Amino acid sequence: MIVIKDEAAVKRMRTAGRVTAAVCAKVSQSIYPGVTTREIDEYAASLISEAGARSAFLGYRGYPGNICVSVNDEVVHGLPGARRVQVGDIVSLDVGVLVDGYMGDMATTVAVGVKDAGVLRLLAQTEQALQAGIRQACAGARLSDVSHAIEKVARGAGFSVVREFVGHGIGREMHEDPQIPNFGPPGRGPVLRPGMTLAIEPMLNMGRAGVDILEDGWTVVTCDHKYSAHFEHTIVIGTDGPEILTRLDD
Ligand code: MF3
Ligand code: CO
Repeated sequence: MIVIKDEAAVKRMRTAGRVTAAVCAKVSQSIYPGVTTREIDEYAASLISEAGARSAFLGYRGYPGNICVSVNDEVVHGLPGARRVQVGDIVSLDVGVLVDGYMGDMATTVAVGVKDAGVLRLLAQTEQALQAGIRQACAGARLSDVSHAIEKVARGAGFSVVREFVGHGIGREMHEDPQIPNFGPPGRGPVLRPGMTLAIEPMLNMGRAGVDILEDGWTVVTCDHKYSAHFEHTIVIGTDGPEILTRLDD
């Protein structure tokens, strides 16, 4: 069942989204060569608590971190630890927070002194794929129009799309219906309605689409160990188009 949010709920989702975006932006700016992924996580934890929020991830199915920090071939769910970020790395940050009963969920991928043009293009095109998906998230469209638009950008750019992990509805719960694959034909699935709140999150790989899960039970890596990028926004479908909730006021 897809939960339709009323105006009061959307207002709280806006607050949660704004906090999520602010934390994600500050953490992104704090990454430098030599920092450990645990230090990144601890900084995120301090920002989340200063904002009067809670991590949506900590303790979720036993997840031990406050955020996910996924480096290079790590796709998603990278566990914060002793690993040090190096020049040439890409670092995906996935931040979920709970504020006043509602969730915000967003991800971004940061390049740390990356010179390789192909890697920079992976990041740019993954963000483009997310934006293309969001543009389709309008009342009256079908859910898989979003999926299809994402896949089209990814394939057009020569990158592959992870199939095992998908976007999702979001609200009082981090994962609500529907699931939102990042691939597939258009014109399928539920009709989108105003008040639907969705987390759209393409994961694009430089090499093959396949993934493995490490022994830690969490970290998802590409099967060929080539780089992977992840961008995510929480949005609400309005009467005149999508509104990105995890965006800083400008
Ligand atoms: N953004 C991810 C998702 O939507 C975060 C889940 S990480 C977990 O699934 F640790 F909470 F599982
Ligand atoms: Co998500």
